[in-house]
Parts: sequence; structure tokens; C-alpha cells
Amino acid sequence: MMTLRCSVCDALPGDADALACAACGELLAFALDCAAVDAYVVEGNARLRRASADPRDRSGVWRFRELLPPIAEDAITTLREGDVPLIDGPRGAAHAGVDRLAYLHLGMNPTASFKDAGMTVAISHARERGAQVAVCASTGNTAASMAAYAARAGMTAVAIAPVDGISPAKVAQTLDYGAHVVAVDGDFDDALRVVRALDPATVAVVNSINPYRIEGQKTAAFVLLEQRRWLAPDWVVLPGGNLGNASALGKGFREARSIGLAIRVPRLAVVQASGAAPFAHAWIAGGDVVPVRAQTDASAIRIGAPASWKKARAEVRASGGTVLDVPDDEIAEARAVIGRDGVGCEPASAASLAGLRRLVAAGSVSRDADVVCVLTGHVLKDTAYAERYHASSAPQANAIVRGVDLARYLNALLLTRT
Ligand code: F0G
Repeated sequence: MMTLRCSVCDALPGDADALACAACGELLAFALDCAAVDAYVVEGNARLRRASADPRDRSGVWRFRELLPPIAEDAITTLREGDVPLIDGPRGAAHAGVDRLAYLHLGMNPTASFKDAGMTVAISHARERGAQVAVCASTGNTAASMAAYAARAGMTAVAIAPVDGISPAKVAQTLDYGAHVVAVDGDFDDALRVVRALDPATVAVVNSINPYRIEGQKTAAFVLLEQRRWLAPDWVVLPGGNLGNASALGKGFREARSIGLAIRVPRLAVVQASGAAPFAHAWIAGGDVVPVRAQTDASAIRIGAPASWKKARAEVRASGGTVLDVPDDEIAEARAVIGRDGVGCEPASAASLAGLRRLVAAGSVSRDADVVCVLTGHVLKDTAYAERYHASSAPQANAIVRGVDLARYLNALLLTRT
């Protein structure tokens, strides 16, 4: 029911391990035979499986396995990923200027980022093929996710990362799961170039250029729709870096509509940090992506040469969506506001709310629109950033209180609440 093809010229890959089309060099993608899928079976299975004890059934990825590439049961490596909540965000809504808003919190995954939904499929596939070593380039989250799933699968993991420019918490997490962390001179784009030059027949490359990653990550669209009785929101807003996730979510929503699980798709808004915004620039200029040297404090999306921009552009266009960029100070403020909703996220994730605010101000999204912001990573992924923010004089900064008389302080607090 699934065939791997070139995402641009539609050619079939000659080689089972290939990550790029032999004919034109573009990325590969799975095509689902939607006519062969029964939406009632998918929906019914997903509902029944939530009450099952089988680890595959408890995963928010594998309970949709009819829509995934087939992988032998004994190769499946799962940590119950994917089953993440959709949470109301009233303060975020007020900040953006919409009546209501929900966060799809992909940071509530086993390694605390959205990568897990894709990694469970990529590592399971690698295991099935007998791969011994998994490799990725990363700004931190892919590395941590790969390291955890490779550890579960008994594989060696090698993360190639610009370690001094990313969150130390993510590096420590990756080391904890036992991966080899190789520091690269340069940035993520340099690291990805190194990884793309490797032979995928000898090592499993698990960046989002691997189409199995995209298949896993598309299930976030199903998990979102499932929690809304299969009614799509008007807009889904998400951060964009290497652009695998925008490609995956767009694919998930399209497939949900094609098989009849949902009657419409949401518009996708992809938000980049202004210092790392080649996709936003290309969207506005109307041409191809021109790589940039990326610079932003949202280190997860410090990416200047996104690998999946063609796939992402096709998805954003098909959804009737848009692409924009937001400056770092607006990301910082939005991140703090998401914290005040009792939710929290890492900086890159908050580009979604900052972007939504701009779209509402520009009149592109109406105040009464039904919007979901995708939060891609947990607040604890980048505590150094949060500490700096709260020690600053930024609008939402919340300084530590020192040297006060506690009784008086509490009394004053009680008075200001009434
Ligand atoms: N948000 C977070 C928290 C991320 O870690 C990333 C990417 C993105 C958004 C962007 O997603 O690349 O699919 O457009 N992190 C990668 C990594 C690059 O290595 O962890 P994308």
C-alpha cells in the first residue's frame, strides 16, 4: 500500500538504502495508496488500540500502522511516543489576538521533542535491515532522540553536532543515552553536509531526509485530528528549520483527507527565525531557497540550508498556507507567554506563537480563527535560555526574589490578588 518514490520526478529508487533519487538527486517520499485504506478501520483500530496493552498499540505512531510503511513486529522499537496532548492556551490566544488557541505539545514525547515520532519508524526500519550504526547531524533534538531509540534497539549511535552552539541540556541528554557525540567545526548545515556524504548502505542516516522519519512524524496530524473528533482547525502554525516537520504534517493532513478521516485540511503557517529564514525569503520572493549563514538564539532552528524545502513548499501551497519569519525578541516573549499558560516549550517552538501574532496583526488570520500552534520541544530542553531570559529586563521576565521578609512579601501578594 506504500511505495517509495522520488518526491519531485516520481522515479522509483533503484537502491533500497538510497536517500536520494538516482535520476534527479531529490529526496524520496512514500506514496500511500489512499483508495486501498478504509477510514473506518483506521479510526476504529486507533480507538481500540488505545485500550490495549501491546506497546505498539499504546504508541501514537504505531496505532496508525495501516498508514505507515510495513515493518516487522519484532523490529519495532517504541517508547510509547506520539500520544501527545492538545492543550488550551488562553494566554497565548490573548497574546496572539485570537479568541481561542490550542497547543499540540510534541515536547511531551519520550525524549521531549517531536523527533521521537519519526525516530521510532527510522530506527525500527534500520533495525529490520540489520544496520549496526545510526548517524545524524543535529542541533540537539534529533541527536537525543536517535540516541535513545538506538540504545533501545541495541545499535551504536553517532551524532554530529555543532556542540558549542546548541543547548547543553540536549548534548548531555544525548551523552546519557550512550551516543557518540562528535563535535563539528561549523554549524548544522556543515554537519548535515558531512552526513549526506556518507554511504547509507553502511550506516543508517536518520535525519529527516530519511523518508521513514517523515512517515512517523506525519502521525502528529492524526493525533491532532483524533483529539478534535477528526475536525481540522483553520490553521496549524509550526516552526521551520530543516523543514522535515512541515513536510510531514502537511502529508499527514492530506492523507487524512484523502482517505476520508477528515473532510478538510488546515492551512499551514511555517515560521522561521529572522536570522535563519531562507524559506520565508524564498516564499516572499517566489523563487528557490537560497542558503544563508544562519544566526538565531533559537538554536534548534539555526539552519541556513533546509534539506526539505521543496517538500515543505508543496505542502504549504497545497494547504493554502503561508511562510513568515519573526525576530528573536518576539520568539523570546512568546516562549515566556506559553510558560504562563502552564505549558512551556523551548525557544524554537515559540516561533509558532510569535508567528501567529504577526499573522493576526497583518489580517492574514482572523481573530475568530480556530488555531493550533505546534510546540516541538519541551521547556526543559533549553533551561540556559530560560534562565538568561528571566534574569533580563525583557517584558515577561520573572526575576528570582531574594532578601525579603517572607511574611510581608506573602501579605503583599495576598493584597494584590484581591
Ligand atoms: N523545533 C525544534 C525544537 C527542533 O529541534 C527543530 C529541528 C525544529 C523545530 C525544526 O524542525 O527541521 O523539521 O523544520 N531540529 C533538528 C535537530 C534540526 O537536529 O534536532 P524541522
